[in-house]
Amino acid sequence: MSSKVFVARNIPAAGLDRIRELTDCTVWPDRLPPSPGVLIENSIGCHGVLTLLSDRIDAAFFDAVGPQLKVISNFAVGYNNIDFEEATRRGIAVGNTPGVLTDSTADTALALLLAAARCVREGIENVSRREWLTWEPMGFIGQDLVGKTIGIVGMGRIGHATGKRLHFGWGMNVLYTSRTDKPDADNELGATRVSLEQLLAESDFVSVHTDLNPETTRMFGASEFAAMKSNAVFVNTARGGVVDEAALHSALTTGQIFAAGLDVTDPEPLTGDSPLRELANCVILPHIASGTVASRNAMAEIAADNLLAGLAGRPMRHQVNPL
Ligand code: DGY
Repeated sequence: MSSKVFVARNIPAAGLDRIRELTDCTVWPDRLPPSPGVLIENSIGCHGVLTLLSDRIDAAFFDAVGPQLKVISNFAVGYNNIDFEEATRRGIAVGNTPGVLTDSTADTALALLLAAARCVREGIENVSRREWLTWEPMGFIGQDLVGKTIGIVGMGRIGHATGKRLHFGWGMNVLYTSRTDKPDADNELGATRVSLEQLLAESDFVSVHTDLNPETTRMFGASEFAAMKSNAVFVNTARGGVVDEAALHSALTTGQIFAAGLDVTDPEPLTGDSPLRELANCVILPHIASGTVASRNAMAEIAADNLLAGLAGRPMRHQVNPL
């Protein structure tokens, strides 16, 4: 008898077709995620659940769904939506999809960095509001990139790919923070591991690539923005929870920093009344960094492989909690 599976959203056929073929699966068809209650309802009695970063998976979920649950396969590299320690205690394997969205995410960091540095939002709004009156010698003055310093917070795969683009493309000097030394970054990019304090003080651009955990939650607050240069551009393609958004708003409106580019916010979507929406020097995207054909297909393939391996009791391609 095939395993019972709930897939919490429609994902690319590159992974979904095999899940449909090899399991008894139900796929959530809506554009919006199932509510926590509906997620549980659909997962009761399942052996495996394929989740997205917007699905909260915790002890209450595991209690409600039942002891037959063997695997949670997350369609994302980040897994802060899952209490994986609780999963481990219960012998439930948790999978993620690293390595295949490195370039797409680094490209998005670059898109945000360039847009924020060169007043692109302000320019687009100027044109769409029919306020473009003439060529303005004093208007839309942005920041230069060549020869500046990029500070990478979290020198993992995506941080490295972002640093590489800026070092080889614009000759930027690369500083980084990391839990450990990164000889590859030191050797290939001439990068230097520094304290966060030094990185903030010396960087013209700061790009966040750390995962969200208790140590990194709200790590960018009032004092971190105050420590940055007034010409600095702040970019976050990691997780919104890393940033205190009220402090960022204040830094952007008081001229403490020049601009910001965000692919992630907390919560997502950004609340309707978030004042960040109104700032011309804050470019915000709806969490699209992995949104390329190749990345999303590869994420679907890995998520399916992880799910099917976990159901069969085999090691996953990418398991975050080796059991
Ligand atoms: C991830 O995979 O964690 C990304 O944030 C989703 O694109």
